[in-house]
Amino acid sequence: MNKAAGMELKGKPVSASRSEMSEVVLPAQTNALGKLLGGHVMHLVDIAAAMAACRHSNSYVVTASVDSIDFRNAVNLGEIVILKSQVNRVFTTSMEIGVEVFSENVLTGERKHTTSAFVTFVSIDEKTRQPKPVRPLIVKTAEEKKRFAEAAARREARLELRARNQKSDAEIKSKK
Ligand SMILES: CC(C)(COP(=O)(O)OP(=O)(O)OC[C@H]1O[C@@H](n2cnc3c(N)ncnc32)[C@H](O)[C@@H]1OP(=O)(O)O)[C@@H](O)C(=O)NCCC(=O)NCCS
Repeated sequence: MNKAAGMELKGKPVSASRSEMSEVVLPAQTNALGKLLGGHVMHLVDIAAAMAACRHSNSYVVTASVDSIDFRNAVNLGEIVILKSQVNRVFTTSMEIGVEVFSENVLTGERKHTTSAFVTFVSIDEKTRQPKPVRPLIVKTAEEKKRFAEAAARREARLELRARNQKSDAEIKSKK
């Protein structure tokens, strides 16, 4: 159980912070082929993920890392882009958020899954501006338990990458 300032933090179920946002794809957000810009999708992913992270932790959060993003299907001009986010797992001060992106054709109603992403957020204390513990996550359904279990391996990979990057930063610094 995570603790903050000696107090035990009460857990929250995944459903309490699950979030959804949507917007119509307008010309300013598309490329010459009328496809939604990848950079705009990444921006929306960050916002949708932050929403779930803030709602779960009831705190300010910062993005620590975003895992690789694949664009499986394009989202076209005039379609609706829909983002669904949820907390997959809480560690100590950080949490992994899963985001799924869909496109919806307004004429046919057809929905396509376009992108999945995993974003790590760190909860930040509003006074000290330092990382602070996040309340535990209560996983109930089989799907939530699966996401929770799978998040462990992803965290390990991220932290290995972080350690490698820190090591090479230190090597570059020592050569200067
Ligand atoms: C992310 C950040 C808060 C980490 O701070 P830090 O002083 O290095 O603190 P720690 O090493 O204690 O890490 C805090 C948590 O972040 C996690 N973390 C840090 N870097 C990470 C990364 N690259 N990937 C995944 N998790 C990471 C740590 O594992 C730790 O999690 P835990 O407490 O659940 O185990 C700090 O690096 C930062 O502020 N970065 C800039 C964030 C930013 O500007 N984002 C974009 C705008 S929101």
